[in-house]
Amino acid sequence: MDDRPIGIFDSGFGGLSIVRALIDLLPSEDIVYVGDTARYPYGPRPLEQVRLFSQQIAKWLVTEHDVKMVVVACNTASAASLDLLRFDLDVPVIGVIEPGLRAALAVTRRGRVGVIGTVGTISSGAYQRAVRKYRSSVELVCAATPGFVEFVERGETDSDQVHVLAERLLSPVRQARVDTLLLGCTHYPFLARTIRDVMGTDVVLVSSAEETAFEVSALLDHAGLNKRYPSKAEHLFYSSGETEWFLEVGRRLFGPELESVESVVWDQE
Ligand code: DGL
Repeated sequence: MDDRPIGIFDSGFGGLSIVRALIDLLPSEDIVYVGDTARYPYGPRPLEQVRLFSQQIAKWLVTEHDVKMVVVACNTASAASLDLLRFDLDVPVIGVIEPGLRAALAVTRRGRVGVIGTVGTISSGAYQRAVRKYRSSVELVCAATPGFVEFVERGETDSDQVHVLAERLLSPVRQARVDTLLLGCTHYPFLARTIRDVMGTDVVLVSSAEETAFEVSALLDHAGLNKRYPSKAEHLFYSSGETEWFLEVGRRLFGPELESVESVVWDQE
């Protein structure tokens, strides 16, 4: 048994889609969430810089909050830093790329899977590497969708503008006639309605959230790290940007469990 919290981070609101699945699956686990909203978006940044940010946040979670595990709830940060964090930290580290891919492999009917993500994630080749690791014969069609994250961070999830952008950016995966579309960025589940409208109802949309939560749960079981049960969970939320904004938009996207937001300031921008 281990009563320490689970640490989770993302560039902003996106990782809340993972927190939602985690709370549903593991309601008694304590969570400390960091949204690095002062430095979003990560997607257009060089991966080396995202790696530095990830190290900084993960180490802060371990030293300041004594977390028992770190969940990198951001595809861009997972692509940039998962191996390094696993090497650096004394606690287990889970990313979202492999869980997302597993979820897509489980549902595809014709083996044609689209993956959308940030420029950083797509250009890293992380999904192709994951497909090779799973020795899957699935055909991946990857497309970067720059701009989606910014709409979510502005709290604008189904405006005409985001719809127009989605029509344009999703056309490669539509033309490729994929049967499954993996939302390879944790912000994108908040755009699911718009993405569904553009892709049509024949394409199954898959997010990494549930599969990531299952992986966390399995790891806690395996390592004997579960919290004593039953107990009331504490969920702490931190933002490196405007905390009032994080609370307002975060509650809209996530729901009432987001009761308050603390500020965290990094010395290095
Ligand atoms: N949620 C992050 C991801 O999954 C968004 C990265 C960004 O800030 O561009 O990639």
